Amino acid sequence: MSDLQALKEKLLTEVTGADDEAAIEAVRVNALGKKGSISELLKTLGTMSPEERQTRGAAINALKTDVFDAITARKSALKDAAIAQRLARETVDISLPVRSSPAERGRIHPISQIIDEITAIFADMGFSIAEGPDIETDYYNFTALNFPEGHPAREMHDTFFFNPDENGERKVLRTHTSPVQVRTMEAQKPPIRIIIPGKTYRQDSDATHSPMFHQVEGLVVDTKSNVANMRWILEEFCKAFFEVDDVTMRFRPSFFPFTEPSFEVDIQCDRSSGPIVKFGEGTDWMEILGCGMVHPNVLRAGGLDPDVYQGFAWGMGLDRIAMLKYGMPDLRNFFDADVRWMSHYGFRPLDMPTLFGGLSA
Ligand code: DAH
Repeated sequence: MSDLQALKEKLLTEVTGADDEAAIEAVRVNALGKKGSISELLKTLGTMSPEERQTRGAAINALKTDVFDAITARKSALKDAAIAQRLARETVDISLPVRSSPAERGRIHPISQIIDEITAIFADMGFSIAEGPDIETDYYNFTALNFPEGHPAREMHDTFFFNPDENGERKVLRTHTSPVQVRTMEAQKPPIRIIIPGKTYRQDSDATHSPMFHQVEGLVVDTKSNVANMRWILEEFCKAFFEVDDVTMRFRPSFFPFTEPSFEVDIQCDRSSGPIVKFGEGTDWMEILGCGMVHPNVLRAGGLDPDVYQGFAWGMGLDRIAMLKYGMPDLRNFFDADVRWMSHYGFRPLDMPTLFGGLSA
């Protein structure tokens, strides 16, 4: 190996071995500084013969260029590394540790979610919300709704009665949301378009019944409303609520004291795949609501002349359709206040159901 080759290897090894800016500067001074090994070689050029200058002179210059380039590259790499190190050392973490906010952790109960969904659908059709008391008089719960005194229909409701007050009047826990129909007719003039979501109570308890449960009632009163209007509204509602393009509904004649004619409505569905029932397809039928044209006696009780006004109404249990829509097997869990159940079946609080944003997405 020539002396130049050996010097080059020695210097390049020193270059790669230099691990900070001071070390590489020392390598540079030793090689290219005034008394550096390469500078000393360059000084010999003047004493060379022209031939020697062409060969050895060129080789010394090449050596100088190679070593210079290597030092420059190493210098800039060490400089970058020094900057990076300094940046890392001087970094200030201005972030706060992420805490899950209470709003994220809390969950909306499926019943509240269903009420929000139904409200969104009917609000879009021009309905407003009406409410009434849970503790109701016998008059609004039964009499005003055309239940005759002593009629067996009163017994069918498995009513919770309060002890009679000093006037002998026995209040009840309302057995349905229908009393709010009459309360609303007394309070506002037609056209009336309301839905009434709320708690209702009956003495009944098993996997699909709870003594406190939920209904949503609907009431339309004006001068021309008819069964065809009712059918359209209920179909539109079912499509939107079950989030399907089409539903097939069956209106079966039935009896309720407060409607004439009365119907029970079944919706076509497919129950073959477990607890989540599919709607808009299949060969099974499921009863989802009762409805009818408001009985003239009920209009009268609400202070409306049945020769002028007519209307339709419906009532639907919410708990069961929530179970069906979201595949929850046991109604009793709804009211256990079990956080594990809520975090599984509950809904995120900021995902408000809307028709344009999606009801349950
Ligand atoms: N109130 C009835 C019930 O609880 C449901 C119902 C049926 C309500 C027909 C209505 C209706 O408004 O028209 O069983």
